[in-house]
Amino acid sequence: MFKKFLTKKTPNQGKHDACESLLGEYRQRVEQGVIDYDPAQVEALHYLQELLDKLSAEKRPGYFNLPSSRAKSSKSIYIYGEVGRGKSMLMDLFYDHCPIQQKRRVHFHTFILEVHEFSHRWRQEKKQDIIHALAAEINATTKLLCFDEFHVIDVANAVILDRLFSRLFELGTVIVTTSNRHPDDLYQGGLVPELFLKFIKLLKASADVIELVAKHDYRLTRLSGAEKIYFFPLDEHASLALEQCYRELTHSAPLKPFTLKVLGRNVMLRAAHADVALTTFDEMCRQPLGPADYLKIVQSFRVVILSGIPKFGFDNHDEAKRFSTFVDALYFHKVILICSAEVSARELYDENIRAFFLKRTVSRLIEMQSDYYLKR
Ligand SMILES: Nc1ncnc2c1ncn2[C@@H]1O[C@H](COP(=O)(O)OP(=O)(O)O)[C@@H](O)[C@H]1O
Ligand SMILES: [Mg+2]
Repeated sequence: MFKKFLTKKTPNQGKHDACESLLGEYRQRVEQGVIDYDPAQVEALHYLQELLDKLSAEKRPGYFNLPSSRAKSSKSIYIYGEVGRGKSMLMDLFYDHCPIQQKRRVHFHTFILEVHEFSHRWRQEKKQDIIHALAAEINATTKLLCFDEFHVIDVANAVILDRLFSRLFELGTVIVTTSNRHPDDLYQGGLVPELFLKFIKLLKASADVIELVAKHDYRLTRLSGAEKIYFFPLDEHASLALEQCYRELTHSAPLKPFTLKVLGRNVMLRAAHADVALTTFDEMCRQPLGPADYLKIVQSFRVVILSGIPKFGFDNHDEAKRFSTFVDALYFHKVILICSAEVSARELYDENIRAFFLKRTVSRLIEMQSDYYLKR
């Protein structure tokens, strides 16, 4: 099996000296036992490698001074598939190996917010042609844009993105994106409106659409295989275990603060990458956060790693209330919670303090550790 993928030729094999081969790196991770070999991932890597080779060639001095008909030759890539199939992992691999300087990787949520903020600013200044201005601004600094978790649900956004992407493609910006859905299935509201169809057509014409039919939901395989996802007491072992979970689930993304925008406010997280967030009880429950913040968090992430849950008593009633709201939101949105606490889940709540809502929270916390919940 392993041999087969080593000998399979990519269209541009032999030109990899300009940049390290993605397949080489993938093979190394398999050999080191970091990941399992998956033929569907290798197939997708061939497309990414081909694009990488083209972008490396384009990186040669003076390329972007060529007539635009030549500078826009690279096709974008749209990878879609079920969750946990390795889409983000492959995109990260591609991004890290891409030699061009003017590249940017961003969560799609963040990008859309930026687009709206730009439009707002531009309109206040009463300037014309927002989309052309925005495309020019993006293209000035970014020749490769990588989006994780692309999804467009409403027609208004589809119209903006249709115009923006058309212009970006004309300027030669290449987009690599991951999504849970094929472009044809992006619109979920029944009959697809004409304006949305136009955007779908643009995506399909400008990008190679690749389905990643990998063998498993690898995230689930990893978590089910993990000894546990609830750690106590709050000692060094627990804190190292949570950091290790974050590294494993994000392919070793750096631990740097992440800001989530909610209704114009900033919610700070210890770190976040793709659909995994690392945060603390202080950040989530000792700040004045409310249901809107928790909703935004559970909509943005599929795994939340939370450290430092205390035992609840008379002196932390407000924190307990917030924690309960947060756990409800996580539970209803089927988000996976990995956490560390002062005591076991059963001991978190003390009957004497009569905070009955915590009974439900504890019961949910226990259920959220079960294989049944993880597989839902
Ligand atoms: N072939 C593989 N073998 C083992 N683990 C994998 C493999 N591919 C992906 N993973 C792991 O599975 C988890 C989910 O991968 P990710 O790329 O986030 O999936 P997706 O973006 O498709 O939801 C990550 O922790 C990743 O490192
Ligand atoms: Mg992903």
